Amino acid sequence: MAEMRNIPQHIAVIMDGNGRWAKLRGKKRNEGHIAGMEALQRTVYNAASAGVKYLTVYAFSTENWGRPQEEVDALMELVCKGVEMHAPELKKQGVSVRTIGDKSRFSEKVRGALDRIEAFTAGGELMTLVLALNYSSRSEIVATMQELARKAAAGEIKAEEIDEKMISSSLYTAGIPDPDLIIRTSGEYRLSNFLMWQASYAEFYFTDVLWPDFNDEELQKAIDAFSARDRRYGLVK
Ligand code: FPP
Repeated sequence: MAEMRNIPQHIAVIMDGNGRWAKLRGKKRNEGHIAGMEALQRTVYNAASAGVKYLTVYAFSTENWGRPQEEVDALMELVCKGVEMHAPELKKQGVSVRTIGDKSRFSEKVRGALDRIEAFTAGGELMTLVLALNYSSRSEIVATMQELARKAAAGEIKAEEIDEKMISSSLYTAGIPDPDLIIRTSGEYRLSNFLMWQASYAEFYFTDVLWPDFNDEELQKAIDAFSARDRRYGLVK
């Protein structure tokens, strides 16, 4: 009989190591990102097949604007091409795409591509793929606090009404359950401004594997590790 596994409802991934993967092969960093995109494509379908309902990936942080312009441009191009190229299959499989982050800083072309794929895949019920783009947890919290302060000043809410539920439902991730499992590749052990509010009770899984090498075997290892954890949420069992 197959062993019963506890499948995380929501996995969030810090896809790290594209640059090092490329360097190890004497390739340009951008080629690492292209390989990273292929790893993302595999992971979307592998996660969906495993029964995961939400997959959030850290695709571009607010700090990433500080990278060389050539790399930023290549990443933007990859986002546009990637969403256009994969939209039909994602829709066909029932994967709906959502973005979190401040899209206003992106060019019209990038925003248009993101808006199109969100509208095109809306309603897909197999899994939700959440792309964190121009995202950082602190900027998300700042934007949310400003919004709630505005509402309080306008008399729409009372300060005392602000509670955890209201904050959660005002963040970019409104309506998305908190991540159960956060995976970071490439042997780094940091959260790097990713889902800090939402990660309160998440389990963490770190692997030395570089993101472009991440495959189904690695995903299964992460799920197995999660499945073996005892989540107590601060309680005694
Ligand atoms: C981190 O590796 C990776 C990124 C900053 C970009 C991630 C992007 C993709 C996987 C592809 C594009 C995604 C979408 C959604 C279209 P790094 O460059 O920091 O690697 P390093 O630490 O080895 O230098």
